[in-house]
Amino acid sequence: TNPPVITLDGPGGAGKGTISTLLAEELGWQFLDSGALYRLTALAAMNHGVELSQESAVAVIAEHLDVRFEKSEQGTRVILENDNVTEAIREERVGRNASVVAAHNRVRDALLKRQRAFATLPGLIADGRDMGTVVFPEAPLKIFLTASAEERARRRVSQLSEGGFDADYDQVFADIVERDERDRNRATAPLKPADDAIELDTTELSIPAVVEYILALASERG
Ligand code: C5P
Repeated sequence: TNPPVITLDGPGGAGKGTISTLLAEELGWQFLDSGALYRLTALAAMNHGVELSQESAVAVIAEHLDVRFEKSEQGTRVILENDNVTEAIREERVGRNASVVAAHNRVRDALLKRQRAFATLPGLIADGRDMGTVVFPEAPLKIFLTASAEERARRRVSQLSEGGFDADYDQVFADIVERDERDRNRATAPLKPADDAIELDTTELSIPAVVEYILALASERG
C-alpha cells in the first residue's frame, strides 16, 4: 500500500516550510523539503566550480549528491559531503542559483527518485513547487499556498533576520518576483496548482489557522 502523502506547493515565502514542518510534527509523518535538494545541487555545483548553465554537468552533480538529513534537538541538520550546510543553503544567492539549476530537465529527473523515496509510512508531507503535479500526482490531498509578493517579501525578511542574515526588503522583494517569474515560466514542471489542488491565500491568515485547516481536510479524507 502507498503511504499517504499531503503535497504543499506554492511560491517562496507563502509559508510552506513552517506549515509543512508543523504538519509533519503534528501527524508524526516524514517531511520532504524538496527545495533543499535544489539548493544543495546549486551549492554543490558552486563548490565544484560547475557552470550552472551546463545542464549535463549539473545533472551529474544532482545524481551523485552526497547529502544526509540529521534530526537533532534544534531541527534538521543538512550535511553535504561531510560539511554542515544547514545555514549556507538558506542564503539568497543559493536560492537564486537553485532556481537556475531547477530549470534543467535532467536535474529534475535526477532528483525525482530521491524525492519519491521520502514517501514512507506512516505518511509524508511534501513541500515544493511540483509535488502535486509531478512528484506525487496520486497524492490524496494537495494544497497550493499563495500570498501576495509584498507579504512574502516581509516574511522572508523577518526569517532572514531571525537567522542572523542581513536582509534588505527591496532586494528581497526583487528576488522573490524574479524567482517567481522563472519558476512559473519554465518549460519543465512550472510552478502551478495541480488540477485537483485546494488553493489557499495565506496573506491574511495566521500559521496556526492554516495548519488547523489542513489537518481538518486531512482527517476528512483520511
Ligand atoms: O523553496 P525553496 O526556496 O527552498 O526553493 C528553491 C528553488 O528550488 C525554487 O525557487 C525553485 O526554483 C526550486 N524548486 C523547484 N521544485 C521544487 C522545489 C524547489 O523547482 N519542488
